Amino acid sequence: MIFPRQKLYNVELFKVFFLTLIKFNKGFAKSIYIIRDLLNLTKNEHLALTPYARVGIHLVLSYVISNYKKKDVLLSPFTIRDMENMIISAGGNPIYIDHSNDSTDLDYELIKNYLKDNHETVGALILTHFVVINPEIEKIIRLCRKYKIFLVQDCAIIFGATFKKIPIYKYGDASVLSFNMFKFVSSIHGGAVITKDKNLISYIEATQKNWQTFSAKDLTRYFFKGSLFRFITNKFIFNLISFNLIAYAEKYSIRFLKNFLVNNPTVSVKKTLPYNYKRQLNEFQVRSIASQIPLLEENTQKRKRNFLFLEKYITNPAVKKLVTVNNLCDGGFINFPVLVEDRASFSKHLYNNRIDHSCFFYPNITKNSKKDICKNVTSVSDRIVFFPIHPQIQRAQLQIIVRHVNSYQV
Ligand SMILES: Cc1ncc(COP(=O)(O)O)c(C=O)c1O
Repeated sequence: MIFPRQKLYNVELFKVFFLTLIKFNKGFAKSIYIIRDLLNLTKNEHLALTPYARVGIHLVLSYVISNYKKKDVLLSPFTIRDMENMIISAGGNPIYIDHSNDSTDLDYELIKNYLKDNHETVGALILTHFVVINPEIEKIIRLCRKYKIFLVQDCAIIFGATFKKIPIYKYGDASVLSFNMFKFVSSIHGGAVITKDKNLISYIEATQKNWQTFSAKDLTRYFFKGSLFRFITNKFIFNLISFNLIAYAEKYSIRFLKNFLVNNPTVSVKKTLPYNYKRQLNEFQVRSIASQIPLLEENTQKRKRNFLFLEKYITNPAVKKLVTVNNLCDGGFINFPVLVEDRASFSKHLYNNRIDHSCFFYPNITKNSKKDICKNVTSVSDRIVFFPIHPQIQRAQLQIIVRHVNSYQV
């Protein structure tokens, strides 16, 4: 049985879409309080829901830039292409910082050196966590405090992770979660900002106040996209048809099929927040988020077990494990990434042995532009391959992955 590289979690596509279609939206439901409780927020920690995580980041940055009057925003270029738009449309100026060698983590020394000379113009740092939490998080927090830089954590793909046993979204000045279709908790679209700064929450609520709630029309495209995705990753369809099509597309470089597999489309430059981003979650989306949060912990633990299995048994020296786990920095464990020098030949070997995998995580969004100084990010992005560790994957399938990864010869 071949397990697809990515599967949807419990996104209630039909329920959210059809309830939105047939019922009149009344705006935010009281489920927002349920979400607050499920996230174990204290009295001093506040929550605002946003239509997308990226809009949450945009709103946080608009607030910071207008209050601190400092426009520069430091971030990793290993992210979604729209991130630059979210910074520019908030009035910010993105400054890209490289990762450490062969790592998904921002290089702490580079941040420190940059801030030493330029801290007066830097208003915020976006810290994106990937498979596990950046192990230098405490040092980064201290640095941000020292220079009064607002630390925004992008927790889009790490919801469920903890640092020193405390949920990661409780660190930093603001943390942003994503509930888009591919996330562990999903309501077709959705995001949240968590912060101790009450004024930030008031700013987000006031800005969103006149935005329309998501209508069925707004959700239609993603409802169909999600339904198609769910169909092609269905166990039987995937094994009989989809995997063979994917392998064929890769082998013969069939562009349109390959593009369909890469979930990070190029985006046009946007200097202002697009009209279709200005939405509020409707009550069905909010309720759906609340209903899935209780499943988060168990799914995270299952992914962690799968991650540790691959980490332990993949021993091929030609396949470098990109991420390791330590006791403090637990993760969301979205997938199991490795680095290989000859990705084309490794990928061919995997397809020949009927292993689904992805050769794409995030691009270096500055690649080929004047701003591209992040060689380590390009190097990771060009050599990465990841394997699924989804809670539904069976141990026998992981063993097959291990066997064929270990049998790969350069
Ligand atoms: C690291 C990261 N940040 C932000 C986002 C944006 O999330 P949303 O689609 O909810 O805006 C994503 C989406 O996949 C992401 O992967």
